[in-house]
Amino acid sequence: MKIFSLSSEVAPFAKTGGLADVAGSLPCALKRLGVDVSIGLPLYRSVKEGAFDRETVFRGLQVPLAGQTLAGNVQAAETEEGVPVYFFEREDLFDRPNLYRAGEGDYYDNLERFAFFSLAALLFARSAGMPFDVIHCHDWQTGLVPAYRSTLFRSDPFFTSTSTLFTIHNIGYQGIFPREKLSVCGLPPETFHPEGIEYWGSISLLKAGLVYSDALTTVSPTYSREIRTPEFGLGMEGILQKRSSVLHGILNGADDSVWNPAKDSYLSSRYDLDHPEEKIVNKAALLREAGLDPGLLERPVLGMTARLSHQKGCDLLLGILDALEALKVGIVILGEGDPAYEGALRKAAEKYAGTMTVTIGFDEALAHRIMAGADIFLVPSLYEPCGLTQMYALKYGTVPVVRATGGLQDTVEEFDPGSRTGNGFKFGPYEPGAFLDAIRRATDLWSDREAWETLMRNGMRADFSWNRSAEQYLDLYRSLVAARRRP
Ligand code: ADP
Ligand code: GLC
Repeated sequence: MKIFSLSSEVAPFAKTGGLADVAGSLPCALKRLGVDVSIGLPLYRSVKEGAFDRETVFRGLQVPLAGQTLAGNVQAAETEEGVPVYFFEREDLFDRPNLYRAGEGDYYDNLERFAFFSLAALLFARSAGMPFDVIHCHDWQTGLVPAYRSTLFRSDPFFTSTSTLFTIHNIGYQGIFPREKLSVCGLPPETFHPEGIEYWGSISLLKAGLVYSDALTTVSPTYSREIRTPEFGLGMEGILQKRSSVLHGILNGADDSVWNPAKDSYLSSRYDLDHPEEKIVNKAALLREAGLDPGLLERPVLGMTARLSHQKGCDLLLGILDALEALKVGIVILGEGDPAYEGALRKAAEKYAGTMTVTIGFDEALAHRIMAGADIFLVPSLYEPCGLTQMYALKYGTVPVVRATGGLQDTVEEFDPGSRTGNGFKFGPYEPGAFLDAIRRATDLWSDREAWETLMRNGMRADFSWNRSAEQYLDLYRSLVAARRRP
């Protein structure tokens, strides 16, 4: 079984969110199951600046797009587990400060950039003589890959036994571009119709992936049901209903080698299920690092690390900050994203200096220290395909308060003080009051140390290992291979 996993971000090489975590961890878990898997991503500036051993393995790849031939190179590295990683190099497209956007806007040529990456990956596989059984594509940036496979390479003998699998990590990002850019995709014009890549008169790369791939997955069972409805499908529910029989929900895992309080080198003190009391050392360190009142050691501290976007429930959070202050809790927030949310949170942090801090930016180390130092972790998302931070929080004994949607619904169970089962707190309506009530349930219980420790342990015991998810992907790959072999 040979798998090529293509993603626009892969940890630890390039990351803006959970997609990178998954695209970095899943291939390694598959390798542990004996699968021959390779990874492909663009050669961004951040990769060049990172301390990764790379070598050029292919020069002068010719990629025909938009009536011209774009030349590119391919560099290779390996993950720590020995998974080959191929970087697609073209300086004018990828040697930039960020992955997708600068300032307030997306790069104007994202279509060119990801069409190049997608086509280059297929042409490289063919030129280097690497036949893959399944090309596993993640999110809209790789949506053209299944479309190329089904059109340009439909009769290409090299790809006869290659299937495509497309994973939806977030249906809110649809890769929409004006129809005038159709030639940039390099697809035959007849693909531009409502059963193809057309989305209300524009091109959608997400739709290309949804329509042309042999099978679809998304990252939790609940989200796989939600996206077939108008509320969550964001316009793609029709095509997903049509493709229901090939759409599967497979819950992400949490990478134990990266997110594990017993081994986490970012922490001042490591701890595990047998010694959860060591967590308090991390709380004290976090209060110091964040410049918060040391007296908060005796009060619940709430943490949140997220892309600051509408999806993540920033409006709900902003709506309850005054009420939280009245609860006398500490608040530590890390995130970047929408400038309006960044500004509003900064302002709140000034107003509540001493009890609330906001760090705007991307900071892997601080993300780990918040996870270990906070008592409660907030994930009030409007929608959440899977969500990784609540799983990390559970592993760190940091009790999650989440909205009951998508993968949050599948991973968090409301704590029942009677039976002492459950691992966190959940609320349903997307309303500040409901969010605040759930936080209150958590902070009320926090004072009952014994009950709280049971709750922490319930979370820390949970098994979110990648192995289980990787086995489900492997079953799916096998079924795709079998289907292609059937006469
Ligand atoms: P999403 O992919 O929608 O952003 P997830 O919960 O799946 O949400 O994954 C988010 C990942 O990105 C986690 O690993 C989280 O720790 C990380 N992350 C998000 N924002 C930041 C930030 N500002 N600094 C460091 N890590 C961040
Ligand atoms: C997306 C989703 C998030 C998910 C992540 C990894 O960015 O927003 O819920 O955990 O992808 O699949």
